[in-house]
Amino acid sequence: MAGIITVDDILTKYKGRPDALIDILHEIQDVQGFLSDTSIIKVAEALDLPASKVYGVATFYSLFTVKPRGRNVIRICESAPCHVLGATAIINALEKELGIKMGETTGDGKFTLEYTSCIGVCGVAPAIMINEVVYGNLTPDKIPHILSEYR
Ligand code: FES
Repeated sequence: MAGIITVDDILTKYKGRPDALIDILHEIQDVQGFLSDTSIIKVAEALDLPASKVYGVATFYSLFTVKPRGRNVIRICESAPCHVLGATAIINALEKELGIKMGETTGDGKFTLEYTSCIGVCGVAPAIMINEVVYGNLTPDKIPHILSEYR
């Protein structure tokens, strides 16, 4: 019977493979939702790397997060085409609707707002991603309806 995958399972699989650091961090984040201090220290010990190096990698890549996140992660594209076509107004609408600022998570743990770079749909800028779903051609008035699907 397949059990719940733990950080220890992941580290056992990659033991002695410091070259697999990025893959390991991805898998841990998939399991835990974010990279906790405890996980980072465990990874460092298992790979015999300084914790500062693991932490540096975890905070360098925008796909990793070292803070707990909400059930739904909203990523707003801030690359130039989206920016020029109104990403700021979309950000304002999201912040107003959720009552949080970029980088924050709602008190009920349902939503997190994050920036991302180009998500490859510049033709329908401005665009956001909620979890794995892309929304393009956005205007601020579309935001309440989109969010209502996730509430
Ligand atoms: S710039 Fe936003 S999707 Fe490409």
